[in-house]
Amino acid sequence: MNIPPLLLNERYGDRYFDAVDALSEAKRIHIGNARIVERAGAAVNTLGMDVIDTDAVVAGNRKTFRIGETGFGAGRLLVALLDSLDAGSVRGAVIDYNTVEIYPVSVERMERILNIFESRAARHIRSVVEAYSRMDVTVPGFHTAAISGDYGVVNLNLYVGEAMGMAEALGAPCAAWFLDGHAPKKNPDIWRAELMSAIGAKTEPGGTATAFTVAGHVRRALSAAGFSVEKVEGCGGKKEALLGTFRGAAAACRPLSPYE
Ligand SMILES: C[S@@+](CC[C@H](N)C(=O)[O-])C[C@H]1O[C@@H](n2cnc3c(N)ncnc32)[C@H](O)[C@@H]1O
Repeated sequence: MNIPPLLLNERYGDRYFDAVDALSEAKRIHIGNARIVERAGAAVNTLGMDVIDTDAVVAGNRKTFRIGETGFGAGRLLVALLDSLDAGSVRGAVIDYNTVEIYPVSVERMERILNIFESRAARHIRSVVEAYSRMDVTVPGFHTAAISGDYGVVNLNLYVGEAMGMAEALGAPCAAWFLDGHAPKKNPDIWRAELMSAIGAKTEPGGTATAFTVAGHVRRALSAAGFSVEKVEGCGGKKEALLGTFRGAAAACRPLSPYE
């Protein structure tokens, strides 16, 4: 299959995402199937606050909703998240978006890739590109930039390095994981059982994991890591997608890292 050069990750011979409606696909498979908008909205309402108050956010008075992603790429999933939060009228949320990238793209390339969706999500693309441009991604480890909007604050915590490094460095478990590290055949490493196990150890009870792939070995690895795994409806070219729900208690975590 021919991949447009702009979307080709040369390191893996695979695309960052499908050119055909990749934003809708991300919203259905990662955000819709895992009910992210409803759950992030509920995290705000739990504490009974529906007015944005920057001091309260900074002081950490709201329940932070934590997301983990394997494979930041061009940030398409983050753009889809921001757009979905807006569409879902979420207000005052505090979301930690923990993600990892081993081969960061340049800001220019990210912008060119994301501009595929410009007519639909221009504002969110600008926010994500602007936050990314504040990071020196030549330096390994965590980089943090806050993105603010009507939805509240999304703290983009990008770990430059290998996915296991990020999973191990996380100071608190995530409520949701977006597993998006290329097709298992092209990149088996990012689906390896030890990594799935480390992800399980950094997931809240009842937390979710979503993926475009339903490959048997990925389902088995997630199951061994403590997730109940089901095949759910896919979108576009993908008839089925994966939804995991974490059964076990989260493993003990290290002390909070500086971005917490
Ligand atoms: C399918 S792309 C991600 C697409 C991205 N989520 C988006 O929506 O734009 C997968 C990404 O994972 C990165 N990656 C692959 N293996 C990795 C690993 N072991 N650790 C960290 N990142 C990895 C690749 O470089 C690539 O950018």
